[in-house]
Amino acid sequence: MQKIIEKIKNKENSNHVIANLDKFEEQQVVQRNQILSEIDFKKINKAYDSEPWWYDVRGFLILTFAYQSTLPSQVRLFGNNFGKEHLEVAVGSGSLLDLILKWRALTNKPYSKITAFDYAEKMLAGALKKFSKRNDMQLLLADAAKMPFKENSFDTINIANAIHCLPNLIQSLDEMYRVLKPNGTLAGNVLLVPQGDSFWSKLASKINSWGIKKGILHKAYYQDEIIFLLEMRGFKITSSKITGNCFDFIATKI
Ligand SMILES: C[S@@+](CC[C@H](N)C(=O)[O-])C[C@H]1O[C@@H](n2cnc3c(N)ncnc32)[C@H](O)[C@@H]1O
Repeated sequence: MQKIIEKIKNKENSNHVIANLDKFEEQQVVQRNQILSEIDFKKINKAYDSEPWWYDVRGFLILTFAYQSTLPSQVRLFGNNFGKEHLEVAVGSGSLLDLILKWRALTNKPYSKITAFDYAEKMLAGALKKFSKRNDMQLLLADAAKMPFKENSFDTINIANAIHCLPNLIQSLDEMYRVLKPNGTLAGNVLLVPQGDSFWSKLASKINSWGIKKGILHKAYYQDEIIFLLEMRGFKITSSKITGNCFDFIATKI
């Protein structure tokens, strides 16, 4: 991580970046010791060893061919789920969040105070760089299964393209439930097991197998399975639809 920070510092001389990075370094020491002590960093860093720009290109290909979803449909799903206090779980390199925030600004949506986190250092470094000018945004290194937030902290949570990446889905859903305020909403999309034996379905299965081997995909789910898991953890699914190979949903904390 030190190397990544040095690299960014050398490239960018903006005070914002340095201030954010210094804050990040401080937070990182605390977080590494207290929150992430149980995480296998070596394994995560190996899985997410690409540069953020390559991650974005690769992500776009995965989105198109494995998820069979589109950026406009994702912007609509996640862009409409922002309350006063918003949490972005597994923000990655921040490219999708950046696009969504630009769309929200263009369409005059109200201001949200945003907290975002990811457990892969390289991904987070990309987001940190992308949002270096936004002093009002908190970016953290943290695990979805053990979040460093008080209960009932957020009005809305988005988890984009990541539920199927979580190694501990049940604990992570419990954490999302805990930190969400009553009546708060969670928006997510879940990669489904490809159905049928068409060329596209076989291609999606191949990409998924590669992702599991690489460590960036935990597993694809069946629709009933994900509905069961969400409801079992206390969420009420208030809207849902299938887009391509994904189950898109909004769930409310009741
Ligand atoms: C496919 S990317 C999606 C990133 C971003 N939300 C987007 O849509 O572009 C999945 C992200 O989930 C993160 N992730 C997976 N498990 C996590 C966990 N337990 N805690 C925090 N982040 C996690 C990975 O590091 C990765 O950045």
